[in-house]
Amino acid sequence: MSQARLKIEVARAALEYVKPDMVLGVGTGSTVNAFIDELAESGIRVKGVVSSSEATSARLREIGVEIMDLNHTGDLELYIDGADEVDEHKRMIKGAGGALTREKIIAAASRRFVCIVDETKCVKVLGEYPMPVEVLPMARAFVARKLVGLGGRPELRQGYTTDNGNLILDVRKLDIMEPVKLESEINQIPGVVTCGLFARRPADVVLVATESGIRRRS
Ligand code: A5P
Repeated sequence: MSQARLKIEVARAALEYVKPDMVLGVGTGSTVNAFIDELAESGIRVKGVVSSSEATSARLREIGVEIMDLNHTGDLELYIDGADEVDEHKRMIKGAGGALTREKIIAAASRRFVCIVDETKCVKVLGEYPMPVEVLPMARAFVARKLVGLGGRPELRQGYTTDNGNLILDVRKLDIMEPVKLESEINQIPGVVTCGLFARRPADVVLVATESGIRRRS
């Protein structure tokens, strides 16, 4: 089965968590785009969505879903999003799409985080994928030096500005044996908005699309 097909399968499986009239959070990326297509197809009418990016908001508007402001919704029942890597403890690296900060806010404000991935995203130890860090522009070089001090190899994502007007450093070679500790450490560096390690608030459920069907970790 192609990776695109697996994404569609897992996106469809996530519909089980979506109830009519609910307000849910929706992340960013190609798996989420498949979820938005499946949501449209399903005919489930949700009350609205708190979206993690301008790209997701545009797609949701196209299918007639109202975009809501987290400041007005209160906490959310459900958050659906993909990931770049996920380990056995449901901790993730996220942010290849650059939406990590809004994703982390929505994840923190949601009672249930359902992560949807295909099996290529599952790893034993996080860190093969470069870990994105969103930084304020004036702190770019300073934060990069601090990340080198932590053993990383940061690289500026060229020609890219986040929806929040900031920059992304993609960091390779980090030793992520203690993800919770490292997440806190990186988030403490002045100028860091947030890092793409999602360990302090892991997913609650991970749906994994495999050749032999959907595997669920909860
Ligand atoms: C977006 O910023 C990321 O956190 C995405 O969740 C991640 O990149 C997954 O994207 P795909 O579904 O396209 O693999």
